[in-house]
Amino acid sequence: MTRTDVSAVPDLEVCALSKRYGSFCAVDEVGFAVPRGSFFSILGPSGCGKTTLLRMIAGFLEPDSGDIRVRGRSMRGVPPNRRPTHMVFQHLALFPMMSVGDNVAYGLRRRGMSRRAARDKAAAALARVGLPDSLDKHIDQLSGGQKQRVALARALVLEPALLLLDEPLGALDLKLREHMKLELKQLQAHVGTTFVYITHDQSEALVMSDQVAVMNRGRFEQVGTPQELYFAPSSAFVASFIGHNNRLAARVAERRGDSVLLHHPDGWQAWARAMQPLKTGQAAWWFLRPEAIELREDPCPQRPGWPVQVQTVLFDGGNTTVVVRHAHSNAELRVALPMNGDWQSWTPGRALHIAWRTEHAWAFAREDTP
Ligand SMILES: Nc1ncnc2c1ncn2[C@@H]1O[C@H](COP(=O)(O)OP(=O)(O)O)[C@@H](O)[C@H]1O
Ligand SMILES: [Mg+2]
Repeated sequence: MTRTDVSAVPDLEVCALSKRYGSFCAVDEVGFAVPRGSFFSILGPSGCGKTTLLRMIAGFLEPDSGDIRVRGRSMRGVPPNRRPTHMVFQHLALFPMMSVGDNVAYGLRRRGMSRRAARDKAAAALARVGLPDSLDKHIDQLSGGQKQRVALARALVLEPALLLLDEPLGALDLKLREHMKLELKQLQAHVGTTFVYITHDQSEALVMSDQVAVMNRGRFEQVGTPQELYFAPSSAFVASFIGHNNRLAARVAERRGDSVLLHHPDGWQAWARAMQPLKTGQAAWWFLRPEAIELREDPCPQRPGWPVQVQTVLFDGGNTTVVVRHAHSNAELRVALPMNGDWQSWTPGRALHIAWRTEHAWAFAREDTP
C-alpha cells in the first residue's frame, strides 16, 4: 500500500452498532467513520447512550449487533487490552501513591518495557503535553489541569490509534474547563492522534472538533462540522441543542416554494425556511437565533419583523441578551445585543421593533421533539 492508501483507511469505522439493556435500546444502529488524525466528538444529553457507545469501541462492553473496525481491522472478539485504543475517564484514575513518571510509564512497564526505556518515553510524553521536569513529582503536587495532562500523557505514551475520552473535563471548574478546551484542541493538533471525545457540553464539542455527531436517544441525529450543525441543522433536536435558539410552537398556514408561513392562534405569524417537508395545517416549530435578530427603534421596511416590548435585560459580562415580547401576542424571544448595541436605552417596558432575514428563520415538524 502507498502512503495515501494507508491514510485513506479511517482510524475508526462503526457500522450499525446496537446495544440493549433488557428491552431498552441504549445504542440504536449507530454508524460513522473517523478519518485519521481528526478530532471527532459525540455530543448529546445525559443518558443518550454516549458512554455505552464508547465502551463498546474500547471493548469493555459487547455489542448486540454491528461491527467496529480500527484502521480497517474488525475488533470482534478482541479484548480491550489488545485493542489499539485507550480510554481516558472523567475521574482520571491516576495512582496517587506513584510519581508522575511512574504513572505515565505504568502501561509501558506492563507491556514489558525496561524501566529505563519506559522512563525516557514517559519524559518525552510529559514534555509533549507541556509538563517537562515533572517526572519525579508527586501526583498530589499537581493542579487539576496538570493531572489532566498526566492522564493524557499516560494514554499517549502507549501510542494508541484512537484515544477515547469520556467527558474528561467534567470534574473541572468552569475556568479550568475553558482553558483545557483550548489545550486539548492544540494538543490533539500537535500530536496528531485521532480523538473520539464524548461530552454533553456543546461548547466543548463545537470549539474542539473537526466533526461532531449529535446523539439523541441512542441514535445519531446528524454528523457534521460545527458550522454545519450550527447553520444547517437537519432536525428540530439539533436546532434546539446546538447554540441558543428561540423556539416557538406554531402551525403551517401557507406554503410558497421552500418557505412556509407559520401561524399561532395567539396572534403572531412569520415566514420561515422549511428545513423539512411540511404540509399546510401541520404542527411545526419556528426557530430564530438570538444573534440573527436586530433590535431597532423603527420597523425595517425591507425585512420581516415584529413590534415588541422589552421584558428583561440579561447582562452577563461578555453578552447582553434582551428578552422581548411580541406587542400583540405572548410570543417571547431572546435577542443577543451586539457589543456596540445601545444597551443604555433598551430598558424594560420600552416599545421597540425587531427585524431578521427570512432565511435565518427555520421551520421544522413539531412531533419529533418533546
Ligand atoms: N448497565 C446498565 N444497565 C441498564 N441500563 C443502563 C446500563 N448502563 C446504562 N444504562 C442506561 O442506558 C442509557 C444510556 O446510558 P449511557 O451510555 O451511560 O449514557 P450517557 O453516557 O450518554 O449519559 C441510560 O438511560 C442509562 O440509564
Ligand atoms: Mg456518560
